Amino acid sequence: MDPDELLRRFGREFPRGTVLFREGDPGREMYVVNRGSVSISARVGTVEKVLSTLGQGEFFGEMSILNDAPRSATATCVEDCLLLVVDARTFEAMVRASAEVAVRMIQKMAARLAEADRQIENLLLRDARARVVHFVAGEASRHPGAPLALSPGDLATRLDVDARQAADVLRTLERSGLLAGGEGAWTVPDADRLRHFLDLLQLDSHPGTRP
Ligand code: CMP
Repeated sequence: MDPDELLRRFGREFPRGTVLFREGDPGREMYVVNRGSVSISARVGTVEKVLSTLGQGEFFGEMSILNDAPRSATATCVEDCLLLVVDARTFEAMVRASAEVAVRMIQKMAARLAEADRQIENLLLRDARARVVHFVAGEASRHPGAPLALSPGDLATRLDVDARQAADVLRTLERSGLLAGGEGAWTVPDADRLRHFLDLLQLDSHPGTRP
């Protein structure tokens, strides 16, 4: 099916703020982002945590269909969105008809699993400062040389630290020359030095059960 026909058949517009589905709902459709972005969030204790924000070309909502299980997370339009909304039967037919679709989906799911592993490793660090540095070092190694959009608010939601603490860590890294640039476009001049700094922090913050 060519892209125009896909859009004609499955394209639907959703305004910013639309909750597409909530964690625990039954799932009957999967979605592909054609325009806009969608946040995926889940309850951790009493707090709603953003697990990921998905943009153009990314898909979500496939797990319920594949596992015949309730939605594992809540999906919310962060901007006005144009999404392909594909019912379970059509989704299965697409995967069966095209090995390429299946392989791309497996690659995405493998990347998501690797990201979830990183998040678990991060959240096992006891020290909030180490969690921020671990996250920055991970971003720097995944996007070498690229500007990193790190904001204290975003770090706070992702890493279970408070925003003031996250801002303090960014300032400390900047003062030590481990981060350069500023708001919205940080760079890590020397990734090895940052890793070394993280190792030092972890000496008194071994992965383990947090209090
Ligand atoms: P489903 O369980 O049907 O509904 C929630 C969707 O969010 C899920 O399918 C995945 O597509 C997506 N999802 C769940 N966990 C993550 C994650 N950690 N990162 C990105 N997407 C996720």
